[in-house]
Amino acid sequence: MIHFFSTLSKKGGRPDFSEVSVDMHSHLLPGIDDGAKNTEDSIRLINGLQELGFEHFITTPHTMKELYPNSRESIEASFQVLRKELSSSLTLSYSSEYFLDEYFMELMEEDKLITLPGNRILLEFSQISKPMELEEQLFQIHLKGYKVILAHPERYLFFHQKMNFHFPRLKDMDIDFQINALSLSGYYGESIRKVAEKLIADGMVEFIGSDTHHDNHLKALAKVQDNKYYQKLLDSGKLQNRSLLTTNARVAHE
Ligand SMILES: [Fe+2]
Repeated sequence: MIHFFSTLSKKGGRPDFSEVSVDMHSHLLPGIDDGAKNTEDSIRLINGLQELGFEHFITTPHTMKELYPNSRESIEASFQVLRKELSSSLTLSYSSEYFLDEYFMELMEEDKLITLPGNRILLEFSQISKPMELEEQLFQIHLKGYKVILAHPERYLFFHQKMNFHFPRLKDMDIDFQINALSLSGYYGESIRKVAEKLIADGMVEFIGSDTHHDNHLKALAKVQDNKYYQKLLDSGKLQNRSLLTTNARVAHE
């Protein structure tokens, strides 16, 4: 058990993650991506997130052709290994963080995507270079009836220039934004922190996730509450994390 968080997370009435409640982006399943390596890791990370105030978890292992070619079967198998080790009162389910590549498009065509409630898909792409056919692919996903949640929009460096063009354009395409709480702590650097803050200031953020992979992320998450934009986000009335708890994703894998 990690104790040092409890003194940080709720001290002085600062906001913690209990208002968010549902962590809908994390890498907590053992052995199938670059997150938890085994069930010990998984349990330690879940305990740490609970100490920070999160109560419910929809964890999202990577699905990425080159590095983590996961499937419903591989994710379900890892989930079952972990589920046996957890208290039955813990709400844990899964979706995936899909990397926009040809494997994703195949899974979509074959109706094999693991969605979040509301037929939502948590999507990411290269952080270095903009996908050649991004708008076309997003349109195809939309035509298929899925609603895209873009994982950590603040981390795509090619959006940092002309932000006032790129982000509203994605919003026009009905894309929801999920910022990483870690971005607000400065974990990824100042420029990413500032972009996340601007997205909050512009009222463009519908979801926040921990994107937890390992213990260092837990330490950084304890600092998020010092960022005044985190409180702004909580006060914005736009956060939809809790809405993900209302449908069968909550019980589907229990
Ligand atoms: Fe992630």
